[in-house]
Amino acid sequence: MKKTAHTTSWASASQWYDSIVGQKGHFYHTEVIIPNTLRLLDLHANDRLLDIGCGQGVFSRHLPKQVAYIGMDIASPLLHKAKQYGPSHTFIQADVTKPWPAIDLCTHAVCILALQNMENPENVFSELAKVLAPGGRAVIVLNHPCFRIPRQSQWGYDEASKRQMRQIFSYLSSQKIPITTNPGKSSQTTWSFHYPLSYYTHLFHKSGFVIELIEEWCSPKESVGPTARAENRARKEFPLFMAISLFLPPLKKMIE
Ligand SMILES: C[S@@+](CC[C@H](N)C(=O)[O-])C[C@H]1O[C@@H](n2cnc3c(N)ncnc32)[C@H](O)[C@@H]1O
Repeated sequence: MKKTAHTTSWASASQWYDSIVGQKGHFYHTEVIIPNTLRLLDLHANDRLLDIGCGQGVFSRHLPKQVAYIGMDIASPLLHKAKQYGPSHTFIQADVTKPWPAIDLCTHAVCILALQNMENPENVFSELAKVLAPGGRAVIVLNHPCFRIPRQSQWGYDEASKRQMRQIFSYLSSQKIPITTNPGKSSQTTWSFHYPLSYYTHLFHKSGFVIELIEEWCSPKESVGPTARAENRARKEFPLFMAISLFLPPLKKMIE
């Protein structure tokens, strides 16, 4: 595998990331993201799935056996871990914001908590449109772009009404935000990128994708303590994740 230095790669955070994701996935993977993504994808035997920004390949380990899988990521150490967990799967090192290497046509694609870590992701969808079969489906899972903007959103508590609120300081401006992983120990910096929802919808539209569905997924955690009631209510009002199911119409593919 070719080693590439790139600012958005999670190569330097790979050991820490693998330690929190492991074989099955972290709490939100197993409780929210993976079951709901599988439901949206609606995979069948002989389907072929592309996982964009696959990390250490957690999604590959939750697929029905008859589904073929290709994972792509820029970070070699994460792909190395992925290969150790699932030697029978295909993993390709690539910067998906640049032209892609040749891959077989896929019926489905996912991009789980990774699009928000890519700078200038315009190319991702024009390249995806070339390798997704006509009528194919792609499911994109993001930290909710309206409510979870690193450094620009936070919880607040109103003493008078005893209500928990979500405070948003900016939304429409694009942001490049450094994220410290593994805080306090041997910390590393990765990057998070914020774009408003309309930016993403223009990207999808430009590459010929149609939005089938948008879902918003909340945290199933429950608080305890004096402000638990307010926190639990707010948790059910402000979703953590947004999932966008995209469809590539067969007609569009034939015209091109
Ligand atoms: C938060 S991790 C998510 C990984 C995996 N999807 C999961 O849910 O565990 C984000 C991933 O995006 C990858 N990434 C960032 N920029 C990339 C790029 N330009 N091309 C390919 N992968 C990229 C990182 O290396 C990292 O593995």
